[in-house]
Amino acid sequence: MRVLLTATAVLFAMITRGNCIICEQCSNINSCSGFFAPCPAEVTHCVKGLENSTVGSNVRLLAYKGCVDPSRQATCDKEVIFRSSRMSLYITRECCDSDSCNSKNTKQAALRIPKTPNGFKCPDCDTDRSTTGCAPVGELQCTGNENQCATFMGRASRPGDSVRGYTVYACATKDACEVGISSMEGTKVSQFDLKCSDPIKV
Ligand SMILES: *[C@@H]1O[C@H](CO)[C@@H](O)[C@H](O)[C@H]1NC(C)=O
Repeated sequence: MRVLLTATAVLFAMITRGNCIICEQCSNINSCSGFFAPCPAEVTHCVKGLENSTVGSNVRLLAYKGCVDPSRQATCDKEVIFRSSRMSLYITRECCDSDSCNSKNTKQAALRIPKTPNGFKCPDCDTDRSTTGCAPVGELQCTGNENQCATFMGRASRPGDSVRGYTVYACATKDACEVGISSMEGTKVSQFDLKCSDPIKV
């Protein structure tokens, strides 16, 4: 009887687990570790990442791990940076495709925005009081892979903050322009308009 029960339990585990990939699941300030669970059947990748949302000296750092919904596969392994002089959003997002492969924590050192100017510049302006524009305070030197100028106008809430209207003119990476807004786990945006354009050569 015991043998039969054990055999039934193993079979049941195999059926319910099927071929689903197992990923660690968590989300927390600074770093996170959580439970390991099978993803929905159509999922092929796990993700782990950090999202650094900074306004002035206020840094919100969110760590997250989980399953990658197939509709968001394009957000994997992208370097997402939007940066004006006072506000910035930097997201790292690493994906992998074997059981529990996202368990190691992402090093926070991976999240330093490169400081070396790259020969491009963009208008610089940001406000958390308007969705309809702001007056540039000058030009911003872009760094590293920031080879686009981005304009964001819309509503957003940073982790632990209420929804506000933002306008941000910033240097951005091409990855940020392509997938940035949909790769965010912490900051939520709504009713927004995001435009990117080629930067000005210094
Ligand atoms: C988050 O971003 C801000 C602004 O770029 C930076 O000063 C800070 O060091 C970053 N924090 C981490 C942990 O990367």
